[in-house]
Amino acid sequence: DCTALSGAWGRGARRLKGDGMASNKKLLVLPGDGIGPEVMREVRRVIDWMDRRRAVTFDLEEDLVGGAAMDARGVPITEATLDKAKRADAVLFGAVGGPKWDTLGFDKRPEIAILSLRKELGLFANLRPATVLDPLVDASTLKPDVVRGLDLMIVRESTGGIYFGQPRGVETLPDGTKRGFNTEVYTTPEIERVARVGFELARKRGNKLCSVEKANVMESGLLWRQTVTAVGAAEFPDVQLSHMYADNCAMQLVRNPRQFDVIVTTNLFGDLLSDLASMLTGSLGMLASATLGGLDEGGKRHALYEPIHGSAPDIAGRGIANPLAQILSFAMLLRYSFGMEEDASLIERACTKVLSGGFRTADIMQPGMAKVSTQVMGEQLLRELDKLAA
Ligand code: IPM
Ligand code: MG
Repeated sequence: DCTALSGAWGRGARRLKGDGMASNKKLLVLPGDGIGPEVMREVRRVIDWMDRRRAVTFDLEEDLVGGAAMDARGVPITEATLDKAKRADAVLFGAVGGPKWDTLGFDKRPEIAILSLRKELGLFANLRPATVLDPLVDASTLKPDVVRGLDLMIVRESTGGIYFGQPRGVETLPDGTKRGFNTEVYTTPEIERVARVGFELARKRGNKLCSVEKANVMESGLLWRQTVTAVGAAEFPDVQLSHMYADNCAMQLVRNPRQFDVIVTTNLFGDLLSDLASMLTGSLGMLASATLGGLDEGGKRHALYEPIHGSAPDIAGRGIANPLAQILSFAMLLRYSFGMEEDASLIERACTKVLSGGFRTADIMQPGMAKVSTQVMGEQLLRELDKLAA
């Protein structure tokens, strides 16, 4: 039931769950591969800080996923880990993948871990904000005038489309050549539920929703457009709805990104456009995301939070990765899964303070700033948290 998503997001969002929940917050932490474990270590310090300073205690479990699970257990994610994720109130995910596992078959690739979590937990709405923080306006490759104050949200469908559509595979043709194929497929209910998330979010923000597909060449895209239009007319006549082809959207995002408020799009287009949008902000290392499901029979909403930067194997193990996206993902988790608005905003304000204080990891380094390691960035954040909480 997706109408129950009502009021679940956006600035000033309320918690996702009923108020009668038990006080122990069950958190599953999945650091994964590459820089995942390094940046997650800094989150653990924030969690310890909350325990000490705010008397907020979590039931923490940690487990292996991705290449790490592949190496230790021969699968990218075990059934037991998936069960833990289902039982948890929220999942904090790092990143998966790396060259070491790139040659494995599709059922063994680290990426299966995140794809299975999305699918098995029914996490169909992937919220990917792209926000330009003032201290970082010069870190963007675009002109400051184009990106200053940017605050857009991409809602990417994440359990359907070509990522999961059947048939898929590679077959050998009679002449010995091969044919690889995947299927883009969307049903009305799949489109409706993610469209509602987009509309709801728009209502809490700038009241504008742009639906993105390729209705000019794809039947599934045409169905997408018609379905979003129908949901809008029936349930959200107050929200300003527009439609855009995905290629044009890519162009518009670079030309004039501030024209957008909320974008709702398919799994594959959302994958591409969210990477593009993230770079408008100057650093992939800054952006968090939430992936949310509907309510299950028990009234529980599954949710997973992850930075969008991925495992960054090129810099893994060097202690130079930016931990802020992982930390901001944790802040999103506090807000959306536990209704802890005050703590979430405390962490977000501390991040901005660290940046205004001139501290930069390599990915967002600018002239005149202090280049710091992952760990020092984490320490500076704790210092700002101390000050803010004093
Ligand atoms: C993302 C990633 C994943 C995706 C990969 C790791 C499967 O690129 O979350 O954007 O394509 O969805
Ligand atoms: Mg991606």
